[in-house]
Amino acid sequence: MACNKLIIGAILSLFCAYYAYAQVQQQQQQQGQTYQMDQICLGCICEAASGCNTTVGCVGDVCGPFRITWGYWADAGKPTVGNQPATSNTAYSDCANDALCAGRTVQGYMNRFAQDCNGDGRITCDDIARVHYLGGYGCSTGQLEKKYEAGYYNCRQAFPNAAP
Ligand SMILES: *[C@@H]1O[C@H](CO)[C@@H](O)[C@H](O)[C@H]1NC(C)=O
Repeated sequence: MACNKLIIGAILSLFCAYYAYAQVQQQQQQQGQTYQMDQICLGCICEAASGCNTTVGCVGDVCGPFRITWGYWADAGKPTVGNQPATSNTAYSDCANDALCAGRTVQGYMNRFAQDCNGDGRITCDDIARVHYLGGYGCSTGQLEKKYEAGYYNCRQAFPNAAP
């Protein structure tokens, strides 16, 4: 009898340990460390931000087809074109104006800030589009600009079989 209780206790504590582990995993997933950016999601964010115009250059405090700010680029880990050092004066603008480097910047930003903005229990491209526009700390409550929002949803509709 005592033995049975011990076994049950052991099973219960194993179960509890597993449950705690699963909770942490789920939290991490909701905080987004595991969002895998796909090309369609990236492309639709590019469409929304600028019509994916790779020649827009820098306007005000944003550069390139994804309209990336210096702060966003820095938070993304300061990726650079080729072997350019991140300390170079043009590292940020060169990267943000380069479609590939800018895409890596978005991925880097999302590695850090992807999250379940709309509270539907998973991280999808809809959340990523919100984080891209509203940043890592206001994507749940912030409002998207109409043009950005429409550009994003029009693009997504063109790819009904895309990964969520
Ligand atoms: C891209 O942006 C540039 C600079 O604003 C503009 O001159 C050009 O017409 C745009 N290209 C397209 C395809 O919209």
